[in-house]
Amino acid sequence: MKTIIKNGKLVTAEASFLSDILIEGEKISQIAESIDTDDAKVIDAAGKLVLPGGVDPHVHLHLEMAGTVSSDDYYTGGKAAAFGGTTTVIDFVSQGSGSLEESVRAHRRFADSTTSIDYGSHMNITHFDDQVAEQIAGLPELGISTIKVFTAYNDRLRIKDGDVFKAMRVAGQNDILTMVHAENGDVIDILTKEALEAGHTQPIWHALTRPGWGAVEASLRAFALAAQADAPVYLVHMNMAGEVDQLKYARSKGVYAMGETCPQYLFFTEENLQQPDGAKWICSPPMRSRNDNMGLWQGLEDGIIQVLATDHCPFFFNGQKAIDYEGEKVAIPGKELGRENFTQIPNGLPGLGDRMPVFWTHAVATGRISPERFVALTSTNPAKIFGLYPQKGCLQPGSDADIAIWDPNLSVKYGVDIARHRTDYNLYEDWNLKGMPVMVMQRGKILVDHGQWFGKPGQGRFLQRLSGEVL
Ligand code: URP
Ligand code: ZN
Ligand code: ZN
Repeated sequence: MKTIIKNGKLVTAEASFLSDILIEGEKISQIAESIDTDDAKVIDAAGKLVLPGGVDPHVHLHLEMAGTVSSDDYYTGGKAAAFGGTTTVIDFVSQGSGSLEESVRAHRRFADSTTSIDYGSHMNITHFDDQVAEQIAGLPELGISTIKVFTAYNDRLRIKDGDVFKAMRVAGQNDILTMVHAENGDVIDILTKEALEAGHTQPIWHALTRPGWGAVEASLRAFALAAQADAPVYLVHMNMAGEVDQLKYARSKGVYAMGETCPQYLFFTEENLQQPDGAKWICSPPMRSRNDNMGLWQGLEDGIIQVLATDHCPFFFNGQKAIDYEGEKVAIPGKELGRENFTQIPNGLPGLGDRMPVFWTHAVATGRISPERFVALTSTNPAKIFGLYPQKGCLQPGSDADIAIWDPNLSVKYGVDIARHRTDYNLYEDWNLKGMPVMVMQRGKILVDHGQWFGKPGQGRFLQRLSGEVL
């Protein structure tokens, strides 16, 4: 099966140019000014841009949390991703009571049969000892080249600083990248206890009990531990301008440090948590201030931050009221679980499908960021850092034909009905967006064509990732 995408303007991380693309089977086989073969299906992309499919390296699909589960699974999450131009996601394997390999295999049993797009996995390390250290060394054989550690969520996910150091060291020795969730778990526990004792139950207290200084301090701690372990480190969900300063400092000192931020931290602040529907914005780390929004934008523009991810982890705002999803009524317990107590609100929010159209509108359509840098931040850099390049994240002969045909002039009033997340709200409701994908394909197969969905459960594949690059 051959397909030619004709007359489009290709946008890569390096350049934009008019060219045709020939796809044979699952791969891009040729890129040239003009391609004609008799036996190919032709897609006319005149007036459109042709982008490599987005790579979102931070999502939580079907994650059990706070007595419920994040409401997108591998099928629905993949569908939402594709509608927004993303064709590859990487989510997280929770560490179970057995070996890391057992956790990975259990995760795959569930995900492989349902996923609608290609996916990879990071391994959460939430318990550490000598045995786990040995098992970390074996992760690359399972196709996993990244671990995540936490400096918050005491007694649940956090490991001690010494164990973070040891985990980073064994990871570094085995070409594995350590991702760090940076907040100060001790301070959070003290402030949360005091807030509840004082009767503070509203969503804003989620932010007030997780001070931004904790993230700044813990990010420097993470970089310093990585420097001492001589290992690469990647700071997830950066939400503070001060974290950008720490990342800049660490990089200037030669630490192999990289970072990501997410759209929610570019647009929203603690004020959103003070609204009557403030629970919609609850995630960890929380929204911060306008100053932090600006510092993160600057970090993206200056190249201090390498990746725009999402930390997609959606919950219903009102999980007692069903929505229609593919003809069925679906209701999943969500944010209402914490109506009486902010600590019971499941942490996380939707964003996987929003990432590229929202960021394009505010970054590229405004002239703030070039189309090439947009591709670097949303596709090429994550593919390189997470060991998927050049299979993913680029338009090159030999690469998977994961492609988003993008209409930079398409304007929509965005919201929950256009985004296809399986939840009942969208953070960008009624926002005017300009620039959307009109056709999205994975390995040469069309997933989305002008609003129609052609994906199927199990059509996506698990990605055996190699060790990535330090950018
Ligand atoms: O609130 C969030 N971000 N939930 C997902 C877990 C995490 O720490 O990334
Ligand atoms: Zn995290
Ligand atoms: Zn996360």
